[in-house]
Amino acid sequence: MKFRIKRSDGEGSHFDVFDVKVKPYMSVLEALFQIQDEQDSSLSFRYSCRGAVCGSCAMLINKKQRLACRTQVSEIAGETVLSPGAFGAFARPLIKTGEDILVEPLPNLPVIKDLIVDWEPFFEHYRKIKPWLNDDEHSEKEKLMTQSDVRKVDSFAACILCCICYGACPVAARDKDFLGPAALAKAWRFYADTRNKNAEEILSRVDTVNGVWKCDEVYRCVEVCPKKVPPTNAITGFMRRIIMHRIKMIFR
Ligand code: SF4
Ligand code: SF4
Ligand code: FES
Repeated sequence: MKFRIKRSDGEGSHFDVFDVKVKPYMSVLEALFQIQDEQDSSLSFRYSCRGAVCGSCAMLINKKQRLACRTQVSEIAGETVLSPGAFGAFARPLIKTGEDILVEPLPNLPVIKDLIVDWEPFFEHYRKIKPWLNDDEHSEKEKLMTQSDVRKVDSFAACILCCICYGACPVAARDKDFLGPAALAKAWRFYADTRNKNAEEILSRVDTVNGVWKCDEVYRCVEVCPKKVPPTNAITGFMRRIIMHRIKMIFR
């Protein structure tokens, strides 16, 4: 099988084509290892856990943002995917990817080399939402949650910070200042936590020109997340809470 891989040194770029001996249940990450071992040791890509836990191997595979370690070659050969360029419910043409497997770096971030991107812009936004519970509180006592409280934040706590949603977000593509889906989903994870005592402060962090109001609400982030985190639900949840908060302030 042929793998068409985008190569780059951060400035110019081109595609190299490699023949891969595909084995049953082979992942795209294993195929990249085979190329690196047998054909081109300079091929660069990031990985760590190889088990869809660390989020390091996010890339664009057949024009779709995915984890290389959990994408099986046999499942994606000759598939049809939605165009990553267009967005909106009725403006998303299907594209046939062809017989080759196309592998490119994750979009919306600067490329360092080949399939390795610079995650710093993503983490810069992530740090802005202060992803931790209650700034100044240091308690020795364990703070317990009920099972139903845990369920309220569970799906958001599942984020592995793989950056896939950021790489798929049309707003992040055109506006580097947008906080982005993962950071906003994480803000909601702490906002909705029953142990949280600074809800208003979290609202003020996301109620900004680069926060929730910039989102186009096209659910692309929800569609691509490998851990089924729903960032758009967090964003629309925040929008409702902010509006309610503003109304409350008027009648105060
Ligand atoms: S929300 Fe999903 S896609 Fe986005 S960083 Fe977290 S795990 Fe990855
Ligand atoms: S719903 Fe919002 S955050 Fe998610 S991909 Fe679309 S524009 Fe980006
Ligand atoms: S190598 Fe860790 S998620 Fe793929």
